[in-house]
Parts: sequence; structure tokens; C-alpha cells
Amino acid sequence: MSKLFTPLQIKSVTFRNRITVSPMCQYTSEDGFATDWHLVHLGSRAVGGAGFIISEAAAVSPEGRISPFDLGIWKDAHLEKLQQITSFISAQGTVPGIQLAHAGRKASTNVPWQGRGKVDVEHGGWTVVAPSAIAFSDNYPMPVALDEQGIQKVIDDFRAAAKRSLEAGFKVIEIHSAHGYLLHQFLSPLSNHRTDKYGGTFENRIRLLLEVIAAVQTEWPANLPLIVRISATDWVQGGWHLEESIKLARILQEKDVDLMDVSSGGLSNLQQISTGPGYQLPFASRIKKETGMLTGAVGMITTSIQAETILVNGDADLIIMAREMLRQPYFPLQAAGELNDDIKWPVQYERAK
Ligand SMILES: Cc1cc2nc3c(=O)[nH]c(=O)nc-3n(C[C@H](O)[C@H](O)[C@H](O)COP(=O)(O)O)c2cc1C
Repeated sequence: MSKLFTPLQIKSVTFRNRITVSPMCQYTSEDGFATDWHLVHLGSRAVGGAGFIISEAAAVSPEGRISPFDLGIWKDAHLEKLQQITSFISAQGTVPGIQLAHAGRKASTNVPWQGRGKVDVEHGGWTVVAPSAIAFSDNYPMPVALDEQGIQKVIDDFRAAAKRSLEAGFKVIEIHSAHGYLLHQFLSPLSNHRTDKYGGTFENRIRLLLEVIAAVQTEWPANLPLIVRISATDWVQGGWHLEESIKLARILQEKDVDLMDVSSGGLSNLQQISTGPGYQLPFASRIKKETGMLTGAVGMITTSIQAETILVNGDADLIIMAREMLRQPYFPLQAAGELNDDIKWPVQYERAK
């Protein structure tokens, strides 16, 4: 059996293999509601054999959406469709996870196929919030700095979203603290200029993330996995960097966080990234090797051999794939063949095995 198809157990949840569908916004919701698109999109990838699917960033509040068309989980009415989706995913043997998110200063923007950039209030946008009143860029909204009451609302919204995630049938929560969204904005000294207990030192900049985790844990059962996505570096001089990520991983382990999903960038448009196959893997590897924390590797992982090599080398524990999964929802079924693993296919598809 290859490493890629060796199951992984975290707490009470067993992942049948290491192939994970990375969260991918579909910008196909109205008022935060999931649709048949989500059922078919996520459902296909469960049929395709993924061990774990992390559904797209679900906003914990309307103002936490990246665009007016984001998925949300801020009210009970959202749950019915999500329950249908998690039930279908689970029935295929795939673990359903949800990414809980707040976009902060990168909220109230256009969908990618309309060119991003801010959506004004008169066109359905809203006032956005952030650690400090510093816009992401010229064509993004100018945020209002959160006061203590606003910070408490963010924490309460994550807590309520965790409760709903459980009711919706998800088995893993991923807290989105990457890609320049709200929690990452607090981590990075480039976007966080606060002088209160949420800004300045490393301990102060990670405070909101830790408070959100603690709030989520009041609702999320201790026997279900809780994971955190981070951007290991801002790729900007003076920004959040790998050594801080390693320090954070040690703290998250103590707080009973099970795995770090290790991405990078998205905080500043000054970032200088050189991409290529597995370009973020060294971050996942360093974090895993220095702290012993389970990690997920993401970023330009596209082949079965590449994925297997990552696991054999002990660089990560989960292989998290986004765009290749859009190109090829049946990647896991195909990868098993390439690695000579005899896995169970959906019976309806067995004649194609
Ligand atoms: C269409 C699309 C939507 C995405 N939406 C999210 C998201 O909701 N949350 C997130 O953390 N990352 C999101 N990402 C980033 C991916 O999860 C992933 O980290 C990135 O695409 C790199 O992986 P890849 O090279 O396998 O595509 C998105 C990427 C794509 C292509």
C-alpha cells in the first residue's frame, strides 16, 4: 500500500487516504446559501475518491464575506442544504470538513471573474473591518479598525458557526487564518498596527486567533479534529514569517489543534513569490520536523508520484490539492491505479476500473 492511500486517524475520525480537496470559493451563493452547485461540485470529488474535502471558506458573518456571493454559516437557515451535502459526502466514505472564515479588509469585493476590486455600499457592498485602518490596496475598501466590542463579535460569530458546523454534519473544522483574511491580518505586523493587547508583540498578534480557537472549542467536540490554515510567510520583508509560524505551531499544539494546513501569502500585494511544483512544501516540512505537529502540504501538487514522495519523505501528513481537483475530480481513483493500489471504487463505476 502506498503512503498516499494509507488511512490517517485524527481523534475519532479516520481519513481513508491522504488526498484532500483544498477549500475553494465558488462565489455561487446568495445570502450565504449553498446550492445544488455545491452538492454536485463537492459530491463529485467525494465520488472521485478523496479522503477529505474541506468545503470553501464559509463566512461566519455577512460582513466577513469576500464577495456578496460567498457561502455563509451565520444563520440556522443555512444548515438544511449543508446537511444534504455532508450527508452525500459522508456516504461516499469521504470526511466532510468546513473552512470557517472572516475576510476582514479583503471583504466586500467583486468575484474573480468580474475582476476583484471593491464593491461599493450602493452596489450591495458593506463597511469592512480589520485590525487597523489600512486598506489592502488602492482598489480595495478602507477598513474600520475593530474596537473591543467588534473583536468580541468576531469571536462570538466563530463560536456560533462552530455550533452550526456540527449540526450541519461536518466532521472537521478548519479555521482560516491565511491568505490575508481577518485572522491573518491580526498575525501580520504589516496589517496590524494596533497598540492594545491585540497588536505589537507576537503574543498580542496571535491573541485573536487563540481566542477564536478557544471559542470554537467550547462548541466543537474534543474528539473531532480542529485544524488551522496559515500563510507560513507573507513573502514581504518585515511581515509574518516562517520562524513565527513555527512558534505558533508549538502553541497551537498545546491548545489541542490537530493539524496545520500550510499555505502562504495573500496579505500584501508587495509579496514576491517564486512559484513552482510544491513551492510551499518546505514550510510544511519545517513545521512538521521542528514541532512534530501534523501538517498538510498545499500548492502546485498535481501528480501521484509527487504526492507520494512528499509523504515518503515525511514532509507532510495530508496532501491538499485545489486546482488539479478542478481539472480532475477523479484524481484519487486514477492515482491509486498509478501507484498500484487496489482501492474500492464506487460500485456504479466499477466497470471502468
Ligand atoms: C477557485 C479557487 C478558490 C479558492 N478558494 C479558497 C478558499 O475558499 N479558502 C482557501 O483557504 N483557499 C482558497 N483557494 C486556495 C486553494 O485552496 C489553494 O491553497 C491554492 O489554490 C494552491 O493550491 P493548488 O496549487 O493545488 O491550486 C482557492 C483557490 C482556487 C483556485
